[in-house]
Amino acid sequence: VEAAAGQAPSSDRALVLVGFMGAGKSIVAVELAAARGGTPHDSDKLLEERFGHSVAHEFELRGEASFRAAEEDLVCDLLSRAGSSDVIALGGGSILSERVRRALGGHLVVLLDVDPAVAWERVRADEDGAQRPLARDRDAFLALYAERSALYEQVADVVLLWARSASGEYPVFVARGLLAEDRLDPVWPLDRSASRAFCVSDETVAALYGERLGELADTIAIAPGEQSKTLAQAERVWSRLVDAGMTRADHVVALGGGVVGDLAGFCAATYQRGVPVVQVPTTLVAQVDSAYGGKTGVDLPAAKNYVGAYHQPAGVLVDPDLLATLPAQELAAGWAEVLKTALIAGGELWQHVAGGGELDERTIVACARTKLQIVAADERDGGRRQALNLGHTVGHAIETATAYARYRHGEAVGLGLLAALRLSALEDLRAQVRELLLARGLPVTLAGAGVDVEEIVAATARDKKRTGAHVPFVLVRAPGDVTVGSEVPAADLRAAVAELID
Ligand SMILES: NC(=O)c1ccc[n+]([C@@H]2O[C@H](COP(=O)([O-])OP(=O)(O)OC[C@H]3O[C@@H](n4cnc5c(N)ncnc54)[C@H](O)[C@@H]3O)[C@@H](O)[C@H]2O)c1
Repeated sequence: VEAAAGQAPSSDRALVLVGFMGAGKSIVAVELAAARGGTPHDSDKLLEERFGHSVAHEFELRGEASFRAAEEDLVCDLLSRAGSSDVIALGGGSILSERVRRALGGHLVVLLDVDPAVAWERVRADEDGAQRPLARDRDAFLALYAERSALYEQVADVVLLWARSASGEYPVFVARGLLAEDRLDPVWPLDRSASRAFCVSDETVAALYGERLGELADTIAIAPGEQSKTLAQAERVWSRLVDAGMTRADHVVALGGGVVGDLAGFCAATYQRGVPVVQVPTTLVAQVDSAYGGKTGVDLPAAKNYVGAYHQPAGVLVDPDLLATLPAQELAAGWAEVLKTALIAGGELWQHVAGGGELDERTIVACARTKLQIVAADERDGGRRQALNLGHTVGHAIETATAYARYRHGEAVGLGLLAALRLSALEDLRAQVRELLLARGLPVTLAGAGVDVEEIVAATARDKKRTGAHVPFVLVRAPGDVTVGSEVPAADLRAAVAELID
């Protein structure tokens, strides 16, 4: 902390991590500070240094009340001296203190999201953790989680999901108003004093939100829409980056929907063999799906997403307030991806979506969490990740067969979901999903599209998941229970597509 090093305290905001034990706050504080060129602090570690022994031992020696008093003093002191270069991990129970909650006031408080079952496994697997006084009984642990969740949400300005994959880890920050300057600085995942930001956006979004990103070395805006997701546009972006003098020390910012995210991500993956990209998604499709997971690329006239690379972002910054300017049809198209994610996740998310629940920040976080969990288990589409392609085999074929001009990606996915549910022989669920699509004004037939069954079936044959003779389909057994890699008889596929045309 600056003051501890003899400097004047900074008035800037520190990033303070709160959340349940086992969320990984200590490790994440170290990672975030390293990426931003800042300093990590960990209240539990500092307390252990002061005690000369573990927190567990202190609990045994002097009891919880005495521990909490010491914790309160230390945390308040830490917060009073902290500045913009500090990343502070707070012990899970520290915010029970009202004094601590008040001291959080000037800082950016970030809730590190964790699944309670995962937190329990982590705490039990960790030698010190198993000694933690509040982690001896699973049911009590889960009850404490439920009890504390509301308080964490109350004090936090921002939710943080920590994305893991075989090729790297990165932060996903979600908050309404995140793109306001006093919030954006503390969450920027790279050190902007050492790495310049080159923004790739589309003309609409650049005009609306370009200025929110602070100082940019350059902004390259493509024409909006899927028809810009091409190699020709990628070449234009690469050339502009060269002209603007971008080096490997710099980074790309993808500000826009899935088209910008995929194109800018691909340019970042390939420019000088790879520079970091920060994804700032501005459509619902991008906020619930495309900004995460590292798939980047462009379309070919013959097939969608055919040229690309896996390139995980350095971070994702999600501000649901940006959706306020999104045209209603784009919002609806994004909702089709929410529906897809809910079918894959099942449980609470499905209940919420099927019940016509509001599209709020929680829903966006739930979709992001679902996608990140799947990608963490299978980054490169070897198996489980293919589940995310539910509805996409026929959906992509519809987009290709209509020259990427007639349907929004989400609209095509909605139609693809209906085909997938037909192939899954789930009549009732198909009817329910059809009603949900209709309620959002999404197409449920291909009427007027001027395509025939054979064109779409031929386009599915070029699906990238194809291995050998057959195209593997993602099928549904029930919400929350999807299977990947199913072979589907050609006659059934024809019938499922024909049903959309009739
Ligand atoms: N990489 C992945 O994992 C992945 C996943 C899903 C979809 N995708 C891809 O995403 C693409 C579709 O993305 P999309 O639906 O976001 O389309 P998009 O990027 O074309 O955006 C849709 C339209 O909304 C406008 N817009 C964007 N943000 C706005 C805002 N906040 N206010 C007003 N207007 C705004 C854009 O200018 C554009 O006209 C497809 O190419 C699809 O293949 C990729």
